[in-house]
Amino acid sequence: MKISVIGLGYLGATHAVAMAKLGHEVIGIEPDESRLSALQSGKVPFFEPGLEEALLEVQKSGTLTFQSAHDEASAACELHFLCVGTPQLADSNAADTSHVFAAASELAAFISLDAVVAGKSTVPVGTAQQLKDEMSKIAGFEVNLAWNPEFLREGTALEDSLKPDRIVVGTWDREAESKLREVYQPILETGTPFISLDVPTAELVKVAANSFLATKISFINAMAEVAEVSGADTVALAEAIGFDERIGKKFLRNGVGFGGGCLPKDIRAFIARAEELGVGSAVDFLKDIDEVNLRRRDRVVELARQDLKDLRDKRILVLGISFKPDSDDLRDSPSLDVALRLSALGAKVAVHDPMALGALGDRHPELERAKDIEAGAKDAELIFLGTEWSEYKSIEPASFGDLVANKLIIDGRNVLDVVSWQAAGWRLIALGRNVHN
Ligand code: UDX
Repeated sequence: MKISVIGLGYLGATHAVAMAKLGHEVIGIEPDESRLSALQSGKVPFFEPGLEEALLEVQKSGTLTFQSAHDEASAACELHFLCVGTPQLADSNAADTSHVFAAASELAAFISLDAVVAGKSTVPVGTAQQLKDEMSKIAGFEVNLAWNPEFLREGTALEDSLKPDRIVVGTWDREAESKLREVYQPILETGTPFISLDVPTAELVKVAANSFLATKISFINAMAEVAEVSGADTVALAEAIGFDERIGKKFLRNGVGFGGGCLPKDIRAFIARAEELGVGSAVDFLKDIDEVNLRRRDRVVELARQDLKDLRDKRILVLGISFKPDSDDLRDSPSLDVALRLSALGAKVAVHDPMALGALGDRHPELERAKDIEAGAKDAELIFLGTEWSEYKSIEPASFGDLVANKLIIDGRNVLDVVSWQAAGWRLIALGRNVHN
C-alpha cells in the first residue's frame, strides 16, 4: 500500500520503518531540516536499538523515502499516518495539540477523496472529532479519519511496532477499518488481536493504558515510602504481591520513578482534559500518582544531604541520565533531574551515560561530563545510580579501587547486589529497602 507517515520523531520514524518492513511503499514527511537530512542519509536522529539497521535496509530497497512537505506523490497515498508530537504546554498540564492540528490542516489541502487518515499521536479525548471537522472544512469533503493509538516503548520500539500486543483502531466508518486491517495484515496473520472501537474509546485507550502503568509504578513507590519507615523491603514486597496473577510482577519496580516523553505528560494531560470535561474528580488520583513519583527524586536529594550534610563542593557521580536504559531520551528524566538538583545545591556533579551525553549536547554546562566511569568517580563522595543500563548492573565494586574514598552509593533502581557491595566495604542505600549498613 502507498502510505505517508507525517512527523518523524520516535513514534513516526519507527512506524515508517516498520511499515516499510511490512512491504508498504512509505513516504516519511518531516519539516525539521536537521531531522530530515539525518534520516535521508540513513541516520536515526536518536538512539533506538536496531532501528538504524532496519532504516538502511528499507532505504536500500527503495520502500521508504523522506521529504519535507506534501507533494503529488504523498497526495496520491491511500493512507496517511499522523505521528506528530503532543508535548506538555509550558504553562499548564494540558497537551499542546497545535502541531497535530497544523499537520492535519496541511494534509487536508492535499488529500484525495478516498484516502484514509489514521491519527497515532496521543491526544486528549475529543480531539479526533475536532480534527475531522477542521480537515473536512479545508478539503471541501468529509475526510475519513480514524484513530489508531500506538503503544511502543523506547528501547524496544521496532519490535513493539512489528509484534504489538494488540492493534487498536477507532473508526467512524467501515472503509477506514478495512484499510487499517489491510495495512496491518502481515501482523494480524500472526494472531495479533485487532480491536475495533469507536473513536473516543480509541483515543482514551492510550491515556488509560499509560495512566494505569504510571499508577502501578507510583503504587509501588508509595509502598517504598512506607517500607523506608517501617523496616520492610519493597523489592521483596513487589515480588510477593506479583505472584498473584491479578496483580502481576511487571511495572512494579520501585526506584527513582518514571519519566520520559509519555507517562508524565500523558497523566497530566488527562487531568487537564478531565477537568475541561467537568469530571476532574474522576482522575484526581493521578495528581497523587504524579506527586508520589516526583517525591522519589526529593528522597534521593534528601538521602545525599543526610549523609554528606552540606553538598557544596562535594563531588558526586551520577550513573545514567536517560529516563530509562537503551534510550538517549532525556525528557523528564528522573536521574537528570536529581543530578541538576544536587548541582543546584552546590555539589560538583559529574554525569555518565553510555548513550545520552550526545543528546545532552551543551545544555547544563554545570554538569561535568564523565568520559568514563572511573574518571567520573575520582574523588567522588557519593555515586548515584539513576538509570539501570546493563553495564551499571554488572559493575564490580572493586573496579573503583580507591577512587571513591567515601565508598557510598545510592542505588536508585535496585539493581546492585547489596551483599557483594557491602562485603567490599561500601555503604549502599537502596530506595525502599532497609538494607543500609
Ligand atoms: C511508555 C509505555 O510503556 C508505552 O506503552 C507508551 O507507548 C509510551 O510510554 P516508555 O516511555 O518508552 O513507554 O517507557 P516505559 O518502559 O513505559 O518506562 C517509563 C518509565 O517508567 C521509565 O522512566 C522507567 O524507568 C519507569 N519504570 C518502569 C519504573 O520506574 N518502574 C517500572 O516497574 C517500570
